[in-house]
Amino acid sequence: MDIIRSVSEMRQWASSVRVAGQSISFVPTMGFLHQGHLSLLKEGRKRGDLLVLSIFVNPTQFGQGEDFAEYPRDLQQDCEIAQQAGVDIIFAPEAKDMYPNGYATCVAVEGITETLCGRSRPGHFRGVCTVVSKLFNIIQPQTAIFGHKDFQQLAVIKRLTLDMNMPVDIFGMPIFRETDGLAMSSRNVYLSADQRRQALVLSQSLTQAKELVKAGETDCANIIFRLKKYIGQQPDARIDYVQICHQLTLEDQSQVDKDSVLLLAVYFGKTRLIDNDFLAANHD
Ligand code: PAJ
Repeated sequence: MDIIRSVSEMRQWASSVRVAGQSISFVPTMGFLHQGHLSLLKEGRKRGDLLVLSIFVNPTQFGQGEDFAEYPRDLQQDCEIAQQAGVDIIFAPEAKDMYPNGYATCVAVEGITETLCGRSRPGHFRGVCTVVSKLFNIIQPQTAIFGHKDFQQLAVIKRLTLDMNMPVDIFGMPIFRETDGLAMSSRNVYLSADQRRQALVLSQSLTQAKELVKAGETDCANIIFRLKKYIGQQPDARIDYVQICHQLTLEDQSQVDKDSVLLLAVYFGKTRLIDNDFLAANHD
């Protein structure tokens, strides 16, 4: 396994792979890897001849007052995990190489970025789409793997690649959870022991909603009302959103159907956690 730090070196490696007729699968991350990332890497390993992992805490997707400076970083531990997962190349560029002086271009997907996380984090998806487009251009993968954990991000990236005719197949992987249900996230390290306990309300809300649907409830407003009350019982929980949306358009729904996804974003203190799941047992 090699670590490549420069954009030009990464481009050279990728083009030599293409010339040799081999395919690249790619897992973009911001590092501080956990088992969720590992599940993406394992899938990536199967889907290409060579596996590239990027580790880049992308400044343009963090808003003012967000946690760019504090975002956890541990390249050495990430290298060990990557090595075990069979990664061929870690691409870990410097911000000044990705965004050199005079940088003036961004990539923005409209519509589906204006709800959910896009509403509470203005500019976030512009930063994500910009960096992912750049990474795709540099690495030229045939396949890229993303997690359902960031459900809106996955939908936005699918939209982006379709709209811009990018020759990359996008695969989504299920959310990897701790044994007690908390979705794994690099940001979970911010939680105090008490907040960590309270945060279980997220996965419990998903279970509760699925049970309501199983029992015949189809009215989205009723489900959302009950969940907000339930989440609100935790002393540190501050709800950002509880929404039920169509899985592709991310438009709010009034009635649950097989395309319904429940999406949650809740602050515990300063830490904002997200989670989601399909609501119907027979979802697509
Ligand atoms: P990051 O938060 O590091 O996540 C990298 C990838 O891992 C994303 O596709 C995310 O959905 C997936 N992931 C995170 N937690 C997961 C879990 N518990 N189960 C399954 N997959 C999980 O998402 C980003 O980085 C950035 O926005 C990025 C796409 C790299 C652009 O900067």
